[in-house]
Amino acid sequence: MKNPFIISGYAGPEYFCNRENEYNRILEAATNGRNIVLASIRRLGKTGLIKFFHDKIKKESDIVPVYLDLMPTLDLSSFISLFAKSFFEQTSSFSNRTINKIKQWFSNVTPTISIDQFTGQPSLEFKFSGDGKAEKTLEEIFNYIKHDSRKFNIAIDEFQQITFYPEKNIEALLRYHIQELNNSTFIFSGSKRHILLEMFSSANKPFFQSCEFMDLKFIDRNSYAGFISEKFSSNGRTISMDNIDYILELTKAHTYFVQFLCNVIFSSGKKIILRKDIDLILNQILINNETIYHSYRNFLTNNQWHVLKAIARNDGVEEPGSAQFQKKYNLPAPSSILLAIKSLIDKELLHEENDRIYLSDQFFALWLKYY
Ligand SMILES: Nc1ncnc2c1ncn2[C@@H]1O[C@H](COP(=O)(O)OP(=O)(O)O)[C@@H](O)[C@H]1O
Ligand SMILES: [Mg+2]
Repeated sequence: MKNPFIISGYAGPEYFCNRENEYNRILEAATNGRNIVLASIRRLGKTGLIKFFHDKIKKESDIVPVYLDLMPTLDLSSFISLFAKSFFEQTSSFSNRTINKIKQWFSNVTPTISIDQFTGQPSLEFKFSGDGKAEKTLEEIFNYIKHDSRKFNIAIDEFQQITFYPEKNIEALLRYHIQELNNSTFIFSGSKRHILLEMFSSANKPFFQSCEFMDLKFIDRNSYAGFISEKFSSNGRTISMDNIDYILELTKAHTYFVQFLCNVIFSSGKKIILRKDIDLILNQILINNETIYHSYRNFLTNNQWHVLKAIARNDGVEEPGSAQFQKKYNLPAPSSILLAIKSLIDKELLHEENDRIYLSDQFFALWLKYY
């Protein structure tokens, strides 16, 4: 029996909870030629939402989806290779005709088809000849897309990665090409909200006001509870609504942690799921993760570690600079607390949600709280 709680990738709409409003908003933007910036903390469901959206438009509209994740790219030429590879693999068939067309179109690129030894799937690689030709090749790709008669939605995940490339003019270059395309809309997605915000809403930046900003929120607890209940019961398991609420409370309804906890509860094989089962399973998850938590200890200062622990024990904090918080957890001066928090937010260990600061890893928070 397949585990109905997916913890990596996207497995189809039946394993995907809600996100109807978000879907409609992105669809509305894409069909009206507007680009979207999709931001949220890690593991809340940005990539899942893009895959859900792409899966649906592929079946229900004439828009052709393209998806790429910039996480593994380090510079302009790796961006271009990935962009070209993703575009052609996801929009064209692997025929000699396609290859010849690509060869004719690009002056410095040799496309080669290889068969992936693990999956048996064909894959395209793009090799550049000649240094300093990257910009020209980028122009050729965008020109190619422009002359294609179809409509595209191109999602570039972890888009903030381009700000770490060594080349300086990438934002301006991409902005220029993107605005020339009138058969394509874009989704720029990423976990570093402050970088994305800076890129898209600073008047002196190339992407200024070129997109609609969409902060992805937590999945509404009621609809998540309904989803969890249905997945358990349709697979012959019994769990009370109180216990589902308990799962959502433990995980603060943070998508990945909900999915993970439910996945392990499901795989325990228990037919009737009681509160003590949930506690035991959660405890085992935390123990399994201990090595990672100990390694966090090593790359944080004492001050940061104590602040993190205090926030975990306090279930988040609204006024970290208050004397009350400082006293309660025996912390250093408020200025040091605030400094630690800033650094922990940069490291993505903390985030702010509705004026309250939380740990971004809910299992880590529970471990800090109880161990
Ligand atoms: N709406 C959803 N319903 C069920 N599972 C989801 C949903 N959205 C995301 N997930 C799952 O949660 C995990 C984290 O989501 P992901 O999309 O990778 O987050 P992000 O891209 O924001 O870091 C993934 O394993 C994904 O399969
Ligand atoms: Mg993602």
